[in-house]
Amino acid sequence: MAEELTPEIPEEEEQPIKQRKNGLYPGVSDELAENMTTGWADTELHDLQPIAQAPHTAARRAALSERFPGERLVIPAGNLKTRSNDTEYAFRASTEYAYLTGDQSEDGVLVLEPHGEGHRATVYLLPRSNRENGEFWLSGQGELWVGRRHSLAEAEQLLGIPAKDVRELPEQLREGTGPVRAVRGHDAGIEAALTDKVTAERDEELRVYLSEARAVKDEFEIGELQKACDSTARGFEDVVRVLDKAEATSERYIEGTFFLRARVEGNDIGYGSICAAGPHATTLHWVRNDGPVRSGELLLLDAGVETHSLYTADITRTLPVNGRFNELQRKIYDAVYESQEAGIAAVKPGAKYRDFHHAAQRVLAERLVEWGLLEGPVERVLELGLQRRWTLHGTGHMLGMDVHDCAAARTEAYVEGTLEPGMCLTVEPGLYFQADDLTVPEEYRGIGVRIEDDILVTEDGNRNLSAALPRQADEVEAWMASLKG
Ligand code: GLY
Ligand code: MN
Ligand code: MN
Repeated sequence: MAEELTPEIPEEEEQPIKQRKNGLYPGVSDELAENMTTGWADTELHDLQPIAQAPHTAARRAALSERFPGERLVIPAGNLKTRSNDTEYAFRASTEYAYLTGDQSEDGVLVLEPHGEGHRATVYLLPRSNRENGEFWLSGQGELWVGRRHSLAEAEQLLGIPAKDVRELPEQLREGTGPVRAVRGHDAGIEAALTDKVTAERDEELRVYLSEARAVKDEFEIGELQKACDSTARGFEDVVRVLDKAEATSERYIEGTFFLRARVEGNDIGYGSICAAGPHATTLHWVRNDGPVRSGELLLLDAGVETHSLYTADITRTLPVNGRFNELQRKIYDAVYESQEAGIAAVKPGAKYRDFHHAAQRVLAERLVEWGLLEGPVERVLELGLQRRWTLHGTGHMLGMDVHDCAAARTEAYVEGTLEPGMCLTVEPGLYFQADDLTVPEEYRGIGVRIEDDILVTEDGNRNLSAALPRQADEVEAWMASLKG
């Protein structure tokens, strides 16, 4: 925030300045303060329709209530985080809060209070700014600075949850009795109010429950994930169209191009875009994106648009910068493609979660043995995990509001679990030959390939939500040619 945008406080000595009664805003004359309280229209909105996910968030809260009967449950959205001095990172509500409310207000808190057989939900929010005491124009959270908020009555209509002023909540929590659990890590003020009432172990059970609850996506969520994939596909097309500009500048041109699509069509990018050209493709999470983009090399682009309701895609394509794979690039690409095909085929209801990983790894091990990089038999390679020198990471993960969704789930419910319809996961095998890897022929060094798609488990198999983007090598080349005109 530029200095000239800080609240203006008159300095001239001759101006009669009196302290505001509440003492909060020295330097504001009573005349100005009085003037600012009046002349504003009533903008209260009435008869608002509930947000699309309201029935789904209600069902999620009902399931949560059933899991923790008789306990007060506290789920904060989180607060703004300082970037530097008085500037903050863009706010992103906690996944747990957004999942249970559909709301994304900073400082919001959902409380489920034991009530009869179940719970009564209340969402605690910062209300509209007070115009009587100057807060709306003189406080950093005032609406003239940060924009209009919903009134509590409006929020109630939109979310389908009774809303109260969050400034009353810490006191209420401090005074409350009975068992409490809270989601930690988002709101230090709320945690301080609960400090002698919660335990790390019991809070962790709440976090684990909310992580596992998100594994099977409902209809609304599947629609959002499809939207995220469709926007991401358009973002990838944008990138292909400007590859010549990236060649003239750097990987940052790709990052910026994709970001534009993410901000225009969605809320944001779901994670730092990996725009890895040439040997950078062998760094798994290359997000510095400050390197050159050269014809003849590959570009590994791993990026995802996050929708307005906070569901993200996670898609990777590895593209020849000049539009054509050379022979070796294509050989490696085809191996990863076949591996991905085997992985995707293993995604179906009733399959073990780990099956797709094993299927994909087997193909890569076979190719590495064929190419003479590993000594067979393949069974031995797989048993010892020797292929991992070049495959490096797991073949996928759950996807949803978090790119690595359901991360707090128990092992038995996730990696040792069974796939069910409605689960969504990435299938993303890769081969990475580091530039300094002396165990591979020189021409392999600096080549990295990953192909990543977002796969929904259906009743009878799976659906590739990111199928709009071609994967097979010929199709990739044809698609790039069509976009470059
Ligand atoms: N983009 C991070 C991942 O693929 O898991
Ligand atoms: Mn991924
Ligand atoms: Mn990815």
